[in-house]
Amino acid sequence: MSNTEAFSETALDVLIRSPFARLNALLEGIPPGADPILFSLGEPHTALPSFVQPVLDEHIASFGKYPPIRGIPELRHAISSWLARRYPALDGVVDPERHVLPLNGSREGLFSAIFPALARKPEVADPAVLIPNPFYQVYAAASAVAGAEPIFLRSGAETGFLPDLDKVDVGLLRRTVALYLCSPSNPEGAVASRDYLEKAIRLARTHDFLLCADECYSEIYTEKSPAGALEVAQAATGSLANVVSFQSLSKRSGLPGLRSGFVAGDSAFLAAFERFRNVACPQVPLPIQYVSAAAWADETHVEQARAFYRANFEAAEAILQGRYGYARPEGGFFLWLNLADFGGGEKAAKTLWKGCGVKVLPGTYLTKSQDGQADQGRDYVRLALVHDAETTRDGLARIVATLG
Ligand SMILES: Cc1ncc(COP(=O)(O)O)c(C=O)c1O
Repeated sequence: MSNTEAFSETALDVLIRSPFARLNALLEGIPPGADPILFSLGEPHTALPSFVQPVLDEHIASFGKYPPIRGIPELRHAISSWLARRYPALDGVVDPERHVLPLNGSREGLFSAIFPALARKPEVADPAVLIPNPFYQVYAAASAVAGAEPIFLRSGAETGFLPDLDKVDVGLLRRTVALYLCSPSNPEGAVASRDYLEKAIRLARTHDFLLCADECYSEIYTEKSPAGALEVAQAATGSLANVVSFQSLSKRSGLPGLRSGFVAGDSAFLAAFERFRNVACPQVPLPIQYVSAAAWADETHVEQARAFYRANFEAAEAILQGRYGYARPEGGFFLWLNLADFGGGEKAAKTLWKGCGVKVLPGTYLTKSQDGQADQGRDYVRLALVHDAETTRDGLARIVATLG
């Protein structure tokens, strides 16, 4: 057995293997059948917003300083003003001093938040973290590294691609330290309703765990803007207790390389998270904070991004014509297609790469089979519609031509 194989045998590695590394391994040695089109990675190809360069230039000298972990006042204010504009129930509620912390992209925040979330419930001997299934890998990585048991909650078509919260056992809820909820969800684009979010908040408070609402796709929608966990908490209960929302400029502003996001919500949790972050996490570089403040203050580029994705979904509708179980998702920019008729996700990914140079992500790399349940991602592939409409049309037409 080689060293690589030995490493991949560890429980931690099995839990947190990168879907993209697995895809590269799957396609290794297979030449693409045409000029590649990568639908595998959720990296937006929207235009760089025009304010990025001038703001960066103006503040370039501040790379020479250590930034404050809690962010500069300009950024905290831009974030709280954005929250108040986006979610009117939060107007006058979000205090930039107490309710907001900047992050280096939402991923590191989703990861590191688990440590103070765990520390909130020291009395629990066997802590658990609830994770939707399919899921974003960092939820599982965080639970595994923090020593909590990841519990994968089936989120299939029969429950609108969100976990059925009524089915979670009370004993499990008592030992839960955090529930990750992604809305709009990756990969299915399902949006949690206000009632659903209220239920999640009620459970979090009853059993005193942290609801980690991953809302990085909230600004990409075709018709109705998705509800947010914080606004629902405030409107329904007049409090943000037990709820934090993770946001990002990666998808909303098409700036995944900026590595900038924020977490907002429960002030007691954020105070603990700030103390933790102050010794254990990286600060956001000052020039990036200034660019981020400009990004949260501007909606024009976000409306342009929504139009960009709308054109892609229109192309998908016209070209796929309902094939592969296509339905336009409520939010986000992914297609979650059922390719059971083509041998399932992994086989279809190989067929498409080899046949027409289109790279798609097998759904099984985003799911976990647990307790003998069938792997619900096995039949699926995920496509990120992040290219311009012409490339999107080309890629989708190739898929139809190859699979039929
Ligand atoms: C569901 C979900 N959450 C969080 C992230 C992290 O994004 P970032 O760290 O760029 O903010 C991603 C990125 O693809 C994602 O798909």
